[in-house]
Amino acid sequence: MSEPLDAALARVTAHVLDPERLVRAVASGRRRGERPQWRRVELRYVDLRAGRALQVTAYDDSQAHTANHPVGDAATGALASLLAEPFGNWHVDTATETHQLRVTKKGDAVVHTNPREAPAMVDFEHDREKSRLLPEDDPVFRVLGLADEQGRIKPSRQGKYRQVEEFLRILDSGITDALAAGHLRRPTADDPLRIVDLGCGNAYLTLAANRYLTAVRELPVLVVGVDRRAQPRWTDPAVTEAVGAPTCFVEGTIGDAVVDPAPEVVLALHACDTATDEALARAVEWGAPLVLAAPCCHHDLAAQLRRTPPPSPNSLLTRSGILRERLADTLTDAVRGALLRTRGYRVEVMQFVESKHTPRNTLLRATLTGARDSGVGEEYAALVAQWGVHPRLAELLDEQSPADA
Ligand SMILES: C[S@@+](CC[C@H](N)C(=O)[O-])C[C@H]1O[C@@H](n2cnc3c(N)ncnc32)[C@H](O)[C@@H]1O
Repeated sequence: MSEPLDAALARVTAHVLDPERLVRAVASGRRRGERPQWRRVELRYVDLRAGRALQVTAYDDSQAHTANHPVGDAATGALASLLAEPFGNWHVDTATETHQLRVTKKGDAVVHTNPREAPAMVDFEHDREKSRLLPEDDPVFRVLGLADEQGRIKPSRQGKYRQVEEFLRILDSGITDALAAGHLRRPTADDPLRIVDLGCGNAYLTLAANRYLTAVRELPVLVVGVDRRAQPRWTDPAVTEAVGAPTCFVEGTIGDAVVDPAPEVVLALHACDTATDEALARAVEWGAPLVLAAPCCHHDLAAQLRRTPPPSPNSLLTRSGILRERLADTLTDAVRGALLRTRGYRVEVMQFVESKHTPRNTLLRATLTGARDSGVGEEYAALVAQWGVHPRLAELLDEQSPADA
């Protein structure tokens, strides 16, 4: 049932100005015939050295702007000016309830209030705030099927959204650092940065990366996705419209797909088993300055360790299946890092999502610096000899240039 807007907004004010109970408030959408200054605004409380403050993160079409307003007059004033904006929706989460306010075509308010199943914690940690690179209501998430029509990530797709967001975050900083250090050239509209996503599947990462780099960073990019299985989404015009830029797709294997001209940034998110090795080998073949690979399952070395257990005492680490699998994961990625280092890459191994979300959360970020790590070749040889394994990436690199291996 509708009610006067002023009365409903007064209740929003009371909820938002209660630091002990506010979890988060979000203003979005627009009223009929009007346009707020911001596309979306998020509010929460944070504890700063100077005291508690209302943190306001406001999104325009390209970026997030964050400001902290000390509790008291400053926070009250900041909220009042946001309430004066013609947002179409206010969503307020408190510790015990959620309130959804929608402004009707007639300018009244319809408010739905629901109790929470379990009380939520109010979190004041300042550094928890990582403004989203792409907010949940970005059109790309709707066409990717991760968000609903209201621009909220579906509960069942939270994991994928988080994975893509965190991968983008590492891509973003990787590109920034590589540009600043001169490892990547500055792209231009005529000569955009060439990016390939190998084993792109349904293209969640491919399209989100294109969207973020094009629309938010305003970086000229040419994004290509490669997978052995073409997906209907690749040719869906609604996808191109939501991304705001075209994306190319190549149906083929990672090892053989023709991507011309050679990509400069190579991405691979959960390419199965040795497909990650193929992706890394292609990156080396192309001389790609920046490579981001989050490996998936590691069956190859696990199978080798099962067939040929290492000599004692290392056999203690491979006797039980679960330990062997975990060891194989670590060994595979350590070996990949070492081989890339022998090819002039600086390699960082990082966690890209928390392990509670997926155990496949390691990410290799490799930047081609040209500096060769002199001792790493010998260490690598000793490691694989000790474990009696033959990594697939080594075979692939050997095929490319046996002299260097
Ligand atoms: C687990 S899915 C990941 C998809 C996507 N990167 C993501 O994270 O949503 C792995 C994808 O890799 C593709 N793939 C595996 N091996 C491949 C190969 N050798 N060449 C091309 N695609 C491959 C599969 O078809 C599948 O789409």
